[in-house]
Amino acid sequence: MVQFTATADIDLNALRNNFTTIKAITPEAKILAVLKANAYGHGLVRIAKALCEADAFGVARIDEALELRDGGIIKPIVLLEGFFDPLDLPIIAVNNFQTVIHNIEQLQAIEQVTLAEPIHVWLKIDTGMHRLGINPKQFSEFYQRLTASKNVHSHIRLMSHLGCADLLASPQTSQQIELFEQLTAGYSAEKSMANSAAILAWPQSHYQWVRPGLILYGVPALKPEQQRTTYPLDPVMTLHSSLIAIRDIKAGDSVGYGAAWTTPQDTRIGVIAIGYGDGYPRHAKNGCPVLINGRLVPLIGRVSMDMITVDLGENADDKVGDYVELWGKNLPVSSIAKHSETIPYELLCNITRRVKIDVI
Ligand SMILES: Cc1ncc(COP(=O)(O)O)c(C=O)c1O
Repeated sequence: MVQFTATADIDLNALRNNFTTIKAITPEAKILAVLKANAYGHGLVRIAKALCEADAFGVARIDEALELRDGGIIKPIVLLEGFFDPLDLPIIAVNNFQTVIHNIEQLQAIEQVTLAEPIHVWLKIDTGMHRLGINPKQFSEFYQRLTASKNVHSHIRLMSHLGCADLLASPQTSQQIELFEQLTAGYSAEKSMANSAAILAWPQSHYQWVRPGLILYGVPALKPEQQRTTYPLDPVMTLHSSLIAIRDIKAGDSVGYGAAWTTPQDTRIGVIAIGYGDGYPRHAKNGCPVLINGRLVPLIGRVSMDMITVDLGENADDKVGDYVELWGKNLPVSSIAKHSETIPYELLCNITRRVKIDVI
C-alpha cells in the first residue's frame, strides 16, 4: 500500500481551457496573463510555457521576470508594480521587459537614465483604488514627459486597477471606469483595467488588454449568485494527500494540540499527511470540508505542521492509504478559504516547496 504525502496535481489542459474561456468572453482584447507569486503557486515557467496563446505576462518582481526569461520565455513581460531601483532600468532594457510607471520617482529615473534601447511603458492612473497609480491631475504631465523621453517607446499604454470589481453592488467600479474614460478619451493609446472579476462582470472595462489572474487558474472570481452567466472554469490545482492513521476514540476524548476538539460521541478519526508546513491553512476551522472516498468529512482539532485530523464517523470504512482531496477538482479552494477566513489567492500562493508537483 502506497501512502502519498501532500501532492499538487497541476492540470495544464484545464489552464488552457480557462484561457479559451477568457478569450471567448473578451474576443477583442489581448490577454496579459498574471503570473506573479510563482503563477499563484502553480509554477511560474511551467504555466508561462503552457499559455502559448497569451499576448503578454504580468509579474510583480523583476526576479520573476528574469526567471521567465531564463526559462526560455520570449513573450512580452510586464512589471506590474514597475521597478523599485533605478539600477533595474538597464536590466529591463536588455531583457526587453515592459514596466508600469506609477510614481514620480520612477518617472524621474526613466528621464535621467541612459539606455541602449527605449523601453515599453504602462502608465498607471489611480482612478479610486488608492493603492498604486498617479493622481489623475498628474496624468497629462506624466504622459507628456514620458512621450518626450528618449528612453520610452512611443506606444505608451494606459492602465488602472479596480478595487471592488467583485462587489457588484458597489458604485466604485462604475466611478473608476468613468474617470478612466474621461481622462483617457482623447488618447489613442491602448488601455487596460480588467482583472478576473472585471472580465466576468464589467465588459465596459475590457478595453484593449485584460489582465486575468485567478480565473486562469480555474477559481471563480465571483460568487455563484453574482454571476449572470456561468462560465466554465476548471481548477488547475488539485491538492491531495492520504490517510496515514485511523483511530477509534470515545465520547469525551480530545484530539490534537491544545485538546482543541472533544468528541461528543464515540467516533473514528482519520489522520491525513498534510499540514501548514505544506501550505494547508493553520487557521482552518473545525468543520472545514475534506473529501475522502466521495464524501465530505469535517476537519477537527488544530492543524499541525504535517498533519490534520478529520472525523470520519463511527462506522466509517476508510483505510490507511486512501486518497484525500484537500481542494481542487471536487472541492473548491474557495470553500477552504471561507472556512479559514482568507481568500483562495492566499491558499494557492502558500503551497510550500515540500509539496510534490505532478503535472498532468
Ligand atoms: C495590476 C493587476 N492586474 C491584474 C491582476 C489579476 O487579478 P486577479 O487575480 O483578480 O485576476 C492583479 C492581481 O492582483 C494585479 O495586481
